[in-house]
Amino acid sequence: MRILLLGSGGREHALSWKMAQSEHCAQLFIAPGNAGTKRCGANVDLDIKDFKAVHSFCEQEQIEMIVVGPEEPLVLGVQDYFKNNTDIKVVGPNAEAAQLEGSKAYAKEFMFRHKIPTAGYKEFKADTLQEGVDFIATINGPVVLKADGIAAGKGVVILEDTAAAQAELTAMLQGKFGAASKRVIIEEFLDGIEFSVFAITDGKDYQLLPIAKDYKRIGEGDKGLNTGGMGAVSPVPFVNDELMQKVVDRIVEPTIQGIHKENLDYKGFVFFGLIRVGNDPYVIEYNCRMGDPETEVVIPRLKSDLVPILSSLFDGSLSSQQVDFHSDVATTVMMVSGGYPEAYEKGKVISNTDQIEKTLPFFAGAQENERGEIVTSGGRVLALTSLANSMDEALALSYQNADKVMFDKKHYRKDIGFDL
Ligand SMILES: Nc1ncnc2c1ncn2[C@@H]1O[C@H](COP(=O)(O)OP(=O)(O)O)[C@@H](O)[C@H]1O
Ligand SMILES: [Mg+2]
Repeated sequence: MRILLLGSGGREHALSWKMAQSEHCAQLFIAPGNAGTKRCGANVDLDIKDFKAVHSFCEQEQIEMIVVGPEEPLVLGVQDYFKNNTDIKVVGPNAEAAQLEGSKAYAKEFMFRHKIPTAGYKEFKADTLQEGVDFIATINGPVVLKADGIAAGKGVVILEDTAAAQAELTAMLQGKFGAASKRVIIEEFLDGIEFSVFAITDGKDYQLLPIAKDYKRIGEGDKGLNTGGMGAVSPVPFVNDELMQKVVDRIVEPTIQGIHKENLDYKGFVFFGLIRVGNDPYVIEYNCRMGDPETEVVIPRLKSDLVPILSSLFDGSLSSQQVDFHSDVATTVMMVSGGYPEAYEKGKVISNTDQIEKTLPFFAGAQENERGEIVTSGGRVLALTSLANSMDEALALSYQNADKVMFDKKHYRKDIGFDL
């Protein structure tokens, strides 16, 4: 099969690393890709939101399947475009189903329709701003404000102070995040520990992938600003069989059944962002693609070939696919540019990657320059994934290698897994 993967992060390096190992993958292209994906296939310089340009490349290279890494092309309708214009299979939901990620209000309504446990909420628009302000005054404890649309990971604000929360609601409804905050939802605050569950679905059947936990804050002890993710582990020790059974019965099954009942065109990954409150799981959010850096621990634990699993989404054979995992623990530590997630410099040469041992380097914001050197091109630079019998052993390997890899102002969190 001739495959095109869209995206350019650590997630895409991990997916391309896996697919390139498949005997069913005749040729792999990655658009636009990075220094890591280049070692797994051919990078193609395409704007992945320009579906016409992607289409003509696909015709030229006789692409049979497109795997979509990030959410943006999905929300913009990449699946719809190729379904309407070509026979190419697209791994990912159509634009309507991608609203499960693209609109927090849509996802909440879906969860309530299907009785899936999630925080209570109310929705406000500009014309109900005053009601929102009055509602905040009645809340005891933290106020969770969420811009409805995609706001570059910055659209969720949690505030303890009533006046600050009222000011934030006002700012959001007055256009702080543009169209993304035309609608704002205010949620009940859930106090617990988060984890992520991944499934692959054809809109009717599903198969579970390994579970994971990621670390979003820049600072140790989960302090400081939010980032795209500083590390992850898989599996998650506190998610025992009992909790996992509740996740399947109360969340995964009703979600997939809901997708089926509502006739949503969904052939792709489902990311369940969950929180354990007491002994019960609740949904924080859905994403309609794999997470980054969770993919960098989930995919290396997948023993089975990914390509037949992806093709099976289109012929009704998903439930008969082998989806086996390695029992090893996987950890990943994200090396980032100093200053990230605020201002940082780019173009720093990354050296000593040839000395990486017993660890898989998944490149993110890293590109090869004309001299063949790998240089930093983003905030998150390189995820170092290790597999071992225990989380401590895997982390020790990730950290030994993080010590060796060098680039100016390199930084990484030294406490991944600290809370487990
Ligand atoms: N109802 C809630 N109670 C407590 N914390 C929440 C709640 N909703 C979101 N959060 C916190 O905010 C983070 C971001 O929210 P999320 O809905 O995942 O939005 P996004 O990932 O799109 O920014 C979550 O990972 C969680 O830590
Ligand atoms: Mg989230």
